[in-house]
Amino acid sequence: MSRSAMDRGARLEEIAEAIGDGALLLWAPGETVRSHDTAWPYRPDSDFWYVTGFAEPEAVLVYRPRSESPVTLFVRPRDREREIWDGRRAGPEGALSEYGADAAWPLDELDARLPELLSGVDALWTPLGRDEAMDRRIHGWLGKLRGNRRQPDRAPTTIRDPRPLLHGMRRRKSLEERLLLGAAASLSARAHLAAMRRLRPGWSEYRLQALIEQVFREGGASGPAYNSIVAGGANACILHYTENRDELRDGDLVLVDAGAELGMYAGDITRTFPVGRSFTAPQRDLYSAVLEVQVDAVAAIRPGMRHADLHQRVIDGLIDRLLVLGLVRGSRDEVVETESWKRYFMHGTGHYLGIDVHDVGPYYAQDGESLPYVEGVVVTVEPGLYVAPDDGEAPEVFRGIGVRIEDDVVVTADGHEVLTADVPKEVDAIEALREAALG
Ligand code: GLY
Ligand code: MN
Ligand code: MN
Repeated sequence: MSRSAMDRGARLEEIAEAIGDGALLLWAPGETVRSHDTAWPYRPDSDFWYVTGFAEPEAVLVYRPRSESPVTLFVRPRDREREIWDGRRAGPEGALSEYGADAAWPLDELDARLPELLSGVDALWTPLGRDEAMDRRIHGWLGKLRGNRRQPDRAPTTIRDPRPLLHGMRRRKSLEERLLLGAAASLSARAHLAAMRRLRPGWSEYRLQALIEQVFREGGASGPAYNSIVAGGANACILHYTENRDELRDGDLVLVDAGAELGMYAGDITRTFPVGRSFTAPQRDLYSAVLEVQVDAVAAIRPGMRHADLHQRVIDGLIDRLLVLGLVRGSRDEVVETESWKRYFMHGTGHYLGIDVHDVGPYYAQDGESLPYVEGVVVTVEPGLYVAPDDGEAPEVFRGIGVRIEDDVVVTADGHEVLTADVPKEVDAIEALREAALG
C-alpha cells in the first residue's frame, strides 16, 4: 500500500491553504472484534489514509501547517512481543522516516502532548460526532487549555468539521489516483472476463464468487471493495443480494456486481450475462433496453454534466423503453406523473468512486443545485431494470429477470474515459464468449 510523497505534499498544501492558523486533528479507529478474540481484517480509515498514507490502527494526526513542526503523528510503539503475535509496526521511528512526519510519538503520550499541540491555534478542525470516546478526549484537552489561568486564550475558539474540505478534495482525483483507479478497474474487469469465460451451468453462485475473488487476490487486491453480488435468475431482483448460495441454471441470467480494492482504490463493475450460451428473447429485450440507456449515459459524460441531469437522462431513456416493452402503461406524461417506472428502476444512476466504493464528495452545491462534473471526477454509471418474480402487473415473460450494467468512468478535460471497457457488454460479444466457454 503506497502513496507517493508528491500526492501527500499536494494534499497537505491544499489543507494548509484552507485551515491557515488552525490545526487538523484526525484519527484512525482501532480494530473491530469479529468474534470472541479475533478481529476483522483491518481496513484503514479512508480520510486518515488519504491525508497521511499511514495504515495502522489507532494512529492520530495533528497537522499545524503554520508551525515549525507541521505534521505530528501518534502511533503504536514498536513492541517485540506484540509484533511477534500481531504483525509489524512502524513505530514513531517509521512514522518519521517513512511517512514524512515532522514529529512522532507513541500513542500513550497523546493526553500529555495534545493540549500543548493545540495551544495557540485559532480553529480546531476535527470530525466530532463519530466516536464518543474520542469526542470526550478532545473536550478534555480543550478544557485543560482553557483552564490554564495564565494563558486561557491559547485554546482554539472554534471547532470546525474538516469533512467538507477533505471530501471536496477527494471528489476530484489526481493523476496518480486516476492511475490507481484504473488499475483497480482493470483487475476487476479481468475477474469479470474470467467469470464469463469459465462459468458453467450447475455451478453455485458461491463458486463463481470464489473464482472472481481469486482473481482479485492473485492480482494483489486486498479483496473485494464491497460484498460481491452473484445473483442467478430472480435473485438479481434483490438489489443487495450477497447470500450467493443458489445454483446457476441454464436459461437464467446471472448478475455479477463485484469490484476489487487495489492499492486502497475500488473497482465497481456489474455485468449480466446468460448462464448458458445465449439470451432468451425477453431477456435480450430487457437487457438491450438497459444497455442502450447505459451507453447513452456514458457517452454524455463530460465536464459540465450534472449528476442529477445524467440520472434524469437515464430515467427518460428507461421510460421510453418500458413503454415499448409494455412494462408501464398509459401516456408518457402519466408514467412521469405517477412514477410507475420506479417499480422497475429504484436506485440511482451511479456514484463517485475512489477510496470508498460509494466515494465521498458533494453532489449538490449549497444552493441545492446539482454540481457539474469537473475533470478528475470518477463516477459509476449503472442503470438497471428489475422485474420481481411475483410482479402481477408485469407481462409474464419478464417476471424474474433483473439486469444491471455498470462501468467506471473518469471525467477528462474534454470528455470521459471508461476504465472498465475491457469487459464486453454488447449482446453479440457476450454470447460469443459464452459460446466459446461452453464449446
Ligand atoms: N456494488 C455497489 C454499487 O454498485 O453501488
Ligand atoms: Mn456495483
Ligand atoms: Mn456502483
